[in-house]
Amino acid sequence: MSDWKEPRVAVVTGGASGIGLAISRRLARDGAAVAIFDLDGEAAEAAASTIRNVGDQAIGLYVDVTDRARIEEAVGEVAEQFGAPLILVNNAGRPSFVPFLEISLEHLHQILEVNLVGSFHCCQVVLPHMLEAGWGRIVNISSSSTYSGTPRMAAYVSSKSAINGLTKTLSREFAPRGVTTNAIPPSFIDTPMLRASAVGGDLDVQASIATTPVRRQGQPEDIAAACSFLCRDEASYITGQILGVDGGRS
Ligand SMILES: NC(=O)c1ccc[n+]([C@@H]2O[C@H](COP(=O)([O-])OP(=O)(O)OC[C@H]3O[C@@H](n4cnc5c(N)ncnc54)[C@H](O)[C@@H]3O)[C@@H](O)[C@H]2O)c1
Repeated sequence: MSDWKEPRVAVVTGGASGIGLAISRRLARDGAAVAIFDLDGEAAEAAASTIRNVGDQAIGLYVDVTDRARIEEAVGEVAEQFGAPLILVNNAGRPSFVPFLEISLEHLHQILEVNLVGSFHCCQVVLPHMLEAGWGRIVNISSSSTYSGTPRMAAYVSSKSAINGLTKTLSREFAPRGVTTNAIPPSFIDTPMLRASAVGGDLDVQASIATTPVRRQGQPEDIAAACSFLCRDEASYITGQILGVDGGRS
């Protein structure tokens, strides 16, 4: 259980799979009512159902984070069913491996739209609830690729670097009103997205393990544990931080 003085409601985007699913499960175990927003509405509801089956609270909703009207509608549904969402985890994301000179502007915009603008929309829709309550926690999932850059990932790394900047800015703007904003840049976490990158030849798992100081691959639960901590009441003095959870890779 978390140390929240009051019951909390959390929105986790991209919560039907991988890191978002582990975060949803963890926050629900911590005592939050969790709303899973995902492009795959059926998977979101299936994930929520596994959370309810162990006695915790969750709902799964179809939400495309690029669709502002749908986000507003879904946040309204969450507020009606559970109460005002005061925790927001911006996790939905799309990878992109394309040589720089071959990236079309259309592709760049698609990646920015999900990875950056989607988080921007969710923050703008959920923040008024946090400000009214005088308490809020925003955790943005960026990427360790922002530390060093990664060849063939210019669109993705640009979008995730912007997320780190958004995190810093929101932390300065809203910390005086009780809302902390932090980012977790994961590295090399065993999820469907990462496995697809390995199958596609964009990543060598064994080579990555060999260069990871803790000598193992990260698990979604590693990110969920850090996210859970940042959402606690006792984390109120931590804001604007980019907390690497990466086995020491950065
Ligand atoms: N796995 C890693 O090693 C790693 C490393 C760095 C960063 N990340 C980031 O972590 C986050 C989660 O990645 P993951 O590895 O768990 O991937 P994943 O593919 O397992 O899960 C991503 C989820 O996001 C959902 N999604 C995609 N586009 C969406 C949209 N427009 N609206 C709503 N939902 C959408 C997908 O349906 C899926 O359920 C992503 O932002 C990713 O960039 C992952």
